[in-house]
Amino acid sequence: MTDAFLDDFATMSAFGATPGGGVERQAASAADGENRAWFTAWLEHNGFDVRVDAIGNIFGLIERIPGAPYVVVGSHLDSQPLAGRFDGAYGVLAGAHAVRAAAGAEGPAVFNLAVVDWFNEEGSRFKPSMMGSAVFTGGLALEVALATTDPAGTSVADALDAIGGRGEAAPLDVAAYLEIHVEQGRELEDTATTIGLVATTWTAHKLEVVVRGEQSHTGAARMADRRDALYGAAELIVAVRRLVDGFEPEELHTAVSEMYLDPNSPVAIAREVRMLVDVRSPYRSILETAVDRLRSEMSVIEARAQVDIEIRGVVEWSSGPFLEEGILLAAAEAERLGYSHRRSATVAGHDATNMKEIVPTVMLFVPSVDGISHNEREFTSDADMLAGLDVLTAVLVRVAAGHLDAATGDIGEGR
Ligand code: GLV
Ligand code: MN
Ligand code: MN
Repeated sequence: MTDAFLDDFATMSAFGATPGGGVERQAASAADGENRAWFTAWLEHNGFDVRVDAIGNIFGLIERIPGAPYVVVGSHLDSQPLAGRFDGAYGVLAGAHAVRAAAGAEGPAVFNLAVVDWFNEEGSRFKPSMMGSAVFTGGLALEVALATTDPAGTSVADALDAIGGRGEAAPLDVAAYLEIHVEQGRELEDTATTIGLVATTWTAHKLEVVVRGEQSHTGAARMADRRDALYGAAELIVAVRRLVDGFEPEELHTAVSEMYLDPNSPVAIAREVRMLVDVRSPYRSILETAVDRLRSEMSVIEARAQVDIEIRGVVEWSSGPFLEEGILLAAAEAERLGYSHRRSATVAGHDATNMKEIVPTVMLFVPSVDGISHNEREFTSDADMLAGLDVLTAVLVRVAAGHLDAATGDIGEGR
């Protein structure tokens, strides 16, 4: 089984492979489509019943008990631009192998089994991230998601149609959700731990900001008359970075990650800049204080650069605990199998962040070398991938036998 997993992972990593050893498979791109087609064929070949829903989530089902709800295991196959090969893809493939192994395991079974590839977790081509799971859990309306456009103006609906990625599957009855992912941080490696038991997630705010000035001549316009949107944006980028200086180390992470300017022309002062500001903290109160400080900074910059700054939209998710019973169950299975383990916090968002709001959810991490992620150099060793698969399979067998059945998913702060 284990060699088969590594062989499949190598096969999958060839879709959208980049010269730097990573992959580029942004949501509903041709490479994502090829990978999804390969994955679908793999599922069919291995006895799964494949269903695709209206936002392009792919489910592979193994029904053992007619009509029973499903324990679903998954992650996402889409990637960032010039990304690593592990983020998301590892979790989907490990999920598929775990389901196949659990389906053949002896012992009691209360629930059916499924693997899922959530559409557009990355949110690089179409914002926001975690789109497929947000539609599934009711946090985002299907019509809104389908109408979302990429920077070239292509809608999610059209992009999905171009890869034959839209289906009509009815919502699945889910009993519990499991996800395994590379850590994308350094704590497991620094503590020589193999399995992270995700206990909390950081709070995140993603602000869509527009800076408006007035288009004019880069040479001829008097300096005092200029309303340069790019100058305002530059001040804002610096302010976002310096926000962290007001807090303790690792209490706050900030970035400006995306920027478009109009007219983006050599001899014209920019009239408008659109940017994405990403602010995260383990503590909601710190995040809110930071965003308040940023709003004050924006007023100062508006006056200094003679621009208007508008926060056009905010996507947020709450910090909140994962199910304690799930953490304990995963700890017991890791222990039994002889793998070191510790509680982890996730800073990145995951589909599990959405799923934990509606069903009992267990999330596991395996180490990322040097914590590198969203980069072609992202790396997790074969041994760690196989250890994660081992623990995931064991947890799945227990959860599918009803071991989290009495637990409730209603334990977070809510969305
Ligand atoms: C995930 O998608 C994130 O924004 O961390
Ligand atoms: Mn991911
Ligand atoms: Mn990612």
